[in-house]
Amino acid sequence: MRPAILLLMSGLLGAQTAPPKTVPAQPAAPQAAAPTGAFVHVPVKAREKRNPLAGDPTAKAAGQKLFQQHCAECHGESAEGGKKAPMLAGGPMADATPGQIFWILTNGVLGKGMPEWSRLPPAQR
Ligand code: HEC
Repeated sequence: MRPAILLLMSGLLGAQTAPPKTVPAQPAAPQAAAPTGAFVHVPVKAREKRNPLAGDPTAKAAGQKLFQQHCAECHGESAEGGKKAPMLAGGPMADATPGQIFWILTNGVLGKGMPEWSRLPPAQR
């Protein structure tokens, strides 16, 4: 019986230490630069959160559609900025981590005209 038990054990241990194959490896979050723009409001902990859809080839098009529906009226058709809101292409956004952007979308910048989007399902944020 002993060898069989050892096999089970090492099988279980092996399963635990093997990297999950379905999740594409993501680069470690860049060492956070000092936040600028609305990102000064984001708690340090929120920076580390990863984008679960990174590597999903359909995510970009879906995101662009959502942007046209919800964000373009203030941030401009191509995120170039508008009368009501800053540009999102470049500027403070260039240094933002996915976690920071997720936090801004969840909480908004209330009082400065940026709505919160917590009613969108997390995968859409
Ligand atoms: C009603 C107008 C409005 C809408 C709609 C809107 N925003 Fe904003 N957004 C703002 C304003 C105003 C700010 C600037 C807040 C500030 O001054 O700190 C802002 C700031 C941001 C920031 C921080 C950028 C920075 O440089 O500090 C992000 C990210 C952002 N918006 C993303 C989005 C996304 C994504 C959507 C769509 C889901 C969206 N916004 C919809 C008005 C809007």
